Amino acid sequence: MTAYRIASIPGDGIGVDVTVEARKVLDRASSKFGFSLEWTEFDWSCERYARVGAMMPDDGVSQLSAFDGILLGAVGFPGVPDHVSLWGLLIPLRRAFQQYVNLRPVRLLPGTTSVLAGRKAEELELVIVRENSEGEYSAIGGRHNAGRPDEFVLQESVFTRVGVTRIIRYAFALARTRSSRVCSATKSNGLIHSMPFWDEIFAEVAAEFPDVHSEQMHVDALAARMVQAPDRLDIVVASNLFGDILSDLAAAITGGLGMAPSGNINPSGEFPSMFEAVHGSAPDIAGQGIANPVAQILAAAMLVEHLGETVAAQAIRTAVDRVLDEGRVRTPDLGGTDTTERLGTAVTEALG
Ligand code: NAI
Ligand code: MG
Repeated sequence: MTAYRIASIPGDGIGVDVTVEARKVLDRASSKFGFSLEWTEFDWSCERYARVGAMMPDDGVSQLSAFDGILLGAVGFPGVPDHVSLWGLLIPLRRAFQQYVNLRPVRLLPGTTSVLAGRKAEELELVIVRENSEGEYSAIGGRHNAGRPDEFVLQESVFTRVGVTRIIRYAFALARTRSSRVCSATKSNGLIHSMPFWDEIFAEVAAEFPDVHSEQMHVDALAARMVQAPDRLDIVVASNLFGDILSDLAAAITGGLGMAPSGNINPSGEFPSMFEAVHGSAPDIAGQGIANPVAQILAAAMLVEHLGETVAAQAIRTAVDRVLDEGRVRTPDLGGTDTTERLGTAVTEALG
């Protein structure tokens, strides 16, 4: 029997609640499909930061490097500034493990009311391939003339030929396994250095994949298209910031943040990949046991798919679909009154 070593970092807020449910589903799936998961849990979080002054230990990266995969809840909580929590854990892990692909599949789940109500599931199914290691999320810059009337800040973006080429290539290769359509999010009319460079490399890579249909749109127009004609989109490749914003929009039109999974992928396999929901720690509902665990359960399905357990991954997705379609168990964001635990248990039971 194949055994996988999985690191779990529940983190903060609802990250903790939804990770418990995702583990429950994965444990059922593993015993059903003949593999085993050895979990190690890490308490790295804002709570740890408040206690000892760091989100994770200095050797955090090396502690995690031996694992086959990482399941992350969410980090960030009121009391610790977001730049401290995200840059103290999430972003360093993404970079150290060269998880340069942020893969965000989007589909309209059964029994879900979307602002696009009336659309069929097959009309709204796309994948956002977000660049996850550079771009607009850069530590380069600074604050000058602090406290004076002429105070200003500089926030630089970093786009490298290697970084842009590899993410766009990943998107084109993924397109070959799906609809063979890639749309690039640009904004070369406003960002006159970075985005023309991105566009140039997009055109170069497109030429390597003549069988894949390619187009580019300014990110604002692309956001509008995602709402008005999502059936015309399949793979969307975007920079770090654009991909971040587009994926919350995509989540919103498919039933909300409680349903959207995400993977931070190191395609070479040299380092562990890390899977998490798109949402954060949701302080407004934390501690109430009412967060929707579906996003984290679908992230867990991406984790086992990445390990090669495709049958188990598909079974988890089917179990989620069945429970949502039946509509008997619903958390408040889905219009019901059920708890995180009940929805997690319903999916676990639907696995058989
Ligand atoms: P958020 O995603 O935590 O919450 C946004 C809204 O969506 C809230 O009203 C929340 O109640 C709702 N929501 C989110 N997930 C839900 C779920 N599973 N079920 C039901 N409702 C859900 O984003 P927000 O409020 O901007 O950030 C809160 C904290 O999380 C911040 O500290 C932020 O930095 C952090 N964060 C961390 C992320 C990560 O660890 N990858 C990603 C996004 C935010
Ligand atoms: Mg986001």
